[in-house]
Amino acid sequence: MEPCHLPLPASMIVRLFGVFVALLLPEFVFCMTRNYTFNIVQHNVTRLCHTKSIVSINGRFPGPRIVAREGDQLLVKVVNHVSNNITIHWHGIRQIRSGWADGPAYVTQCPIQTEQTYTYNFTITGQRGTLFWHAHISWMRATLYGPIIILPKRNESYPFRKPYKEVPIIFGEWWNADPEAVINQALQTGGGPNVSDAYTINGFPGPLYNCSSKDTFRLKVKPGKTYMLRLINAAMNDELFFSIANHTVIIVEADAVYIKPFQTDVVMITPGQTTNVLLKTKPYYPNATFLMAARPYFTGQGTFDNSTVAGILEYEHPLNHTFNTKKMVFKPTLPPLNATTLVANFTRKFRSLNNPNFTASVPQTVDKQFYFTLGLGSSPCPKNTTCQGPNGTKFAASVNNVSFALPTTALLQAYISKKSNGVYTTDFPTNPPSPFNYTGTPPNNTLVSNATRLVALPFNTSVELVLQDTSILGAENHPLHLHGFNFFVVGQGFGNYNPTQDPANFNLVDPVERNTFGVPAGGWVAIRFLADNPGVWFMHCHFDVHTSWGLRMAWIVMDGPLPSQKLPPPPSDLPEC
Ligand code: C2O
Repeated sequence: MEPCHLPLPASMIVRLFGVFVALLLPEFVFCMTRNYTFNIVQHNVTRLCHTKSIVSINGRFPGPRIVAREGDQLLVKVVNHVSNNITIHWHGIRQIRSGWADGPAYVTQCPIQTEQTYTYNFTITGQRGTLFWHAHISWMRATLYGPIIILPKRNESYPFRKPYKEVPIIFGEWWNADPEAVINQALQTGGGPNVSDAYTINGFPGPLYNCSSKDTFRLKVKPGKTYMLRLINAAMNDELFFSIANHTVIIVEADAVYIKPFQTDVVMITPGQTTNVLLKTKPYYPNATFLMAARPYFTGQGTFDNSTVAGILEYEHPLNHTFNTKKMVFKPTLPPLNATTLVANFTRKFRSLNNPNFTASVPQTVDKQFYFTLGLGSSPCPKNTTCQGPNGTKFAASVNNVSFALPTTALLQAYISKKSNGVYTTDFPTNPPSPFNYTGTPPNNTLVSNATRLVALPFNTSVELVLQDTSILGAENHPLHLHGFNFFVVGQGFGNYNPTQDPANFNLVDPVERNTFGVPAGGWVAIRFLADNPGVWFMHCHFDVHTSWGLRMAWIVMDGPLPSQKLPPPPSDLPEC
């Protein structure tokens, strides 16, 4: 590790006892460059009595942790030794003026091809908590994911008592089949993809599956201590309820932003969300173990994996470590699979900390308003084939009825080199093209259009975006994720958004700040963000099946007038298509 390059104002000249002395500001002195190497390889893993070769980083599943402090620069050298094309996304990292390192394939970069290398170079600015990294091409993230742990700067502390220990808890989804074959087959036939065989905690399905009890994540704790669990939902297509038997947790952070702490016995976490919770262990050694379990929150109409992953919370015996009598095992009660009201009440509890140290800079005025519908739809079945989607069509998904087509070159490269012709247009609809009762009886025609249409925003545009779920092929909660920004969730509700009545109830004081938020099934969410980061930024449903069907779009944020408001030119090792 080496100190970061000192930006110009890093040294300060002060006059001390009549002498001029140069002082280095501590935050620059302590900032580090951290180097990681990610070798993408194949390796064999056995789960549920199935052995298969998976694509992994350095032969590890889940992948290695990235640990850094706020302010650090990261250089992650990714070397692709497998036959699949790969990109890696640093989910939730703001990527301020480093859009080239964001990672979504065909948006900010072409894929890293076999035996090619690309070094992701970015600095973590103004964020602390938990995020994660994952592959961002096709369904490769099913096995390529791992935690990003951002510690406070060296001279700073948490806004709560330092926990005794910190433990990442990363939820994933496991297929006995090859996930690439699963999505490719689904896109061929137009039907829904086969659901997963298990959920996992830190890669382990746990004791509630057949042939799996030895593959269980165990958390050994001491009585009377506070543990911080860094929860990450890296599952592909499922929002999860998580609970620990006979324990409650205090949520203190969401998507690498501190929140006003609140206590809960159940956490709902969508794919793409991360959240830190404090777990206070029992004051005395209990002669029992406790399952920590997760299963889906599901609002759609198709089939889904309704199984339950469990890990074990185990208390260390204070005197005798080998003392091994049969202990009671407690199981948590998880909410019903479709507990939408519970979820709405839970998500409303999140509030920005918004104190003098950690302010919430909610845009108070709006330059540009957008109203986007999100939902499923259909595409025609190609001639002389049969399709397995709705009424013999193919499943599709869209934003404002546009099913976003990824180009064969990267959008950011096309934009910077001014070669948008034939790649994309900037006429993404600001409002739904044909209004209907979005949450009522769906229209008969559910066909989507296919196009690569973007929105171009001048630098520093203050954006208000209302995301409206539709009931086409079933109302559904959609975990929407925005790259390059955090947004403030200023309002949410059920039914259709009412632009004359709903804004009166917006929270412009301490709304939660996130990068991923569930648009309620049959409801809407209003978000605000300041477009102060030049680049091309992907926005999509973090259900990979919906992303694959086209529930995605992208924003161009143009350069500002000052040098510090421009995106630097592409790095020399940026992959080509
Ligand atoms: Cu975690 Cu574009 O995704």
